[in-house]
Amino acid sequence: MKDIMQELESRRQAARMGGGERRIATQHTKGKLSARERIDLLLDEGSFEEFDMFVAHRCTDFDMEHQRPAGDGVVTGWGTINGRMIYVYSQDFTVLGGSVSATHAQKICKIMDMAMQNGAPVLGLNDSGGARIQEGVDALAGYAEIFQRNVLASGVVPQISVIMGPCAGGAVYSPAMTDFIFMVKDSSYMFVTGPDVVKTVTNEVVTAEELGGASTHTKKSSVADGAFENDVEALAEVRRLVDFLPANNREKPPVRPFFDDPARVEHSLDTLIPENPNTPYDMKELILKIADEGDFYEIQEDFAKNIITGFMRLEGQTVGVVANQPMVLAGCLDIDSSRKAARFVRFCDAFEIPLLTLVDVPGFLPGTSQEYGGVIKHGAKLLFAYGEATVPKVTVITRKAYGGAYDVMSSKHLRGDMNYAWPTAEIAVMGAKGATEILYRSELGDADKIAARTAEYEDRFANPFVAAERGFIDEVIQPKSTRRRVARAFASLRGKKLKNPWKKHDNIPL
Ligand code: HXC
Repeated sequence: MKDIMQELESRRQAARMGGGERRIATQHTKGKLSARERIDLLLDEGSFEEFDMFVAHRCTDFDMEHQRPAGDGVVTGWGTINGRMIYVYSQDFTVLGGSVSATHAQKICKIMDMAMQNGAPVLGLNDSGGARIQEGVDALAGYAEIFQRNVLASGVVPQISVIMGPCAGGAVYSPAMTDFIFMVKDSSYMFVTGPDVVKTVTNEVVTAEELGGASTHTKKSSVADGAFENDVEALAEVRRLVDFLPANNREKPPVRPFFDDPARVEHSLDTLIPENPNTPYDMKELILKIADEGDFYEIQEDFAKNIITGFMRLEGQTVGVVANQPMVLAGCLDIDSSRKAARFVRFCDAFEIPLLTLVDVPGFLPGTSQEYGGVIKHGAKLLFAYGEATVPKVTVITRKAYGGAYDVMSSKHLRGDMNYAWPTAEIAVMGAKGATEILYRSELGDADKIAARTAEYEDRFANPFVAAERGFIDEVIQPKSTRRRVARAFASLRGKKLKNPWKKHDNIPL
């Protein structure tokens, strides 16, 4: 018995060392933590239960039978984040470059199956040279098994990917099918084909960082939802995100203790809207003043900044926020902002997270680049996402709500539950100047007449009351009481039940 216990301990010890001290040291010199150090930081202390520590690959090509490290390059299991269960895999770059073999993939599939069955999120810490070259098609088959599970788990349990090293080739498609991707600055990259192939095929000279680093994917491509300075920050922020999310699509998000009066009055909001309707103001100020303890977790902060998406809590309960940002492109909707917000709305709806929409939108951005880029189809994504969402939807129009964009931004007509407007709201087909120039084209030569017509149009339509008279706005509220009104609205909607007609699935414009 003693011998076997000793053998167990020495095998465990060997497995824990991964690719050995030298490779772990190399990992550290690159500013990266080891697979196990990452798990330790991610999970509550002592909560990790490991599976398949002794799994080894079965490949016999390229002399691989002489190189069978325990664990096969990925550490898998479950643990807790602030007491709530999650499943995790962490690729170990020190073992064969974290490359994915058939057995490595099987380990990941096992925890994904358990996560689906037991209703807990899956978190993948990615640091891998891709498909294990020695295994060929077996490795590709392993990847596809993971992809298939990503698809089936989508909308059932939250899936989060953290890219903490290389992620190249088809390997990028597993993270791409998860709900959120986070990257670590300067030590992670994602691309379908690397810089060498790019040079051969297109003659472009580009570094790995330029092609697929954190900056590229958070600012240009929108593949990633956030970037962090280092492994430690990334893991701490992922813990923060998990606290906002439900464990699965059958459970509500967790309710956290809160120490912020839901009826808190914010007098400063009464002067948030500038006198001049064309002067921008920062919509984030409103978000932070509504949120419990001013805590807001922003998603895709560096992409399509004309719309803001993220999570806050009201009375301790998670709320997804979508808000136009007048500081960027006057808050117009365009291709990028529609795509960004649509995906966020669908995530919230899939996981029963109520939606708060803050509206100040002068319309869709005009121009050939938008039309040629398919703004019709991309704008329709947001319209579709709001229209199909059955979660509680509360909307506050702070200033402009013009044209089609008024309809899109969680209007009453798209089953908005509570639609509020500030007294400064202007709900109309378009801005007064544009409207008069069309309606009174024959008078365009006479500046005084046009000014009078514009003033007349403003008087008639640049207010919330026409919409309120029709019941499209449930109530015109005082800016300072927005937190109280919105919190009460969501409280009243906790029992909401709404079902869409049965269908296999919808056909959202893609
Ligand atoms: C087997 C691999 C490997 C791989 C790295 N290693 N990638 N072993 N299969 N795919 C091993 C190396 O041999 C080395 O072993 C160790 O991991 C560390 O690699 P280094 O090259 O020394 O590290 P570094 O200089 O940091 O470079 C990292 C790297 C590079 C950029 C990831 O290793 C690389 O380019 N690897 C190949 C990437 C690739 O083409 N993968 C296949 C993509 S196709 P030792 O023993 O020396 O420590 C793909 C298809 C997926 O993934 C399809 C899904 C549909």
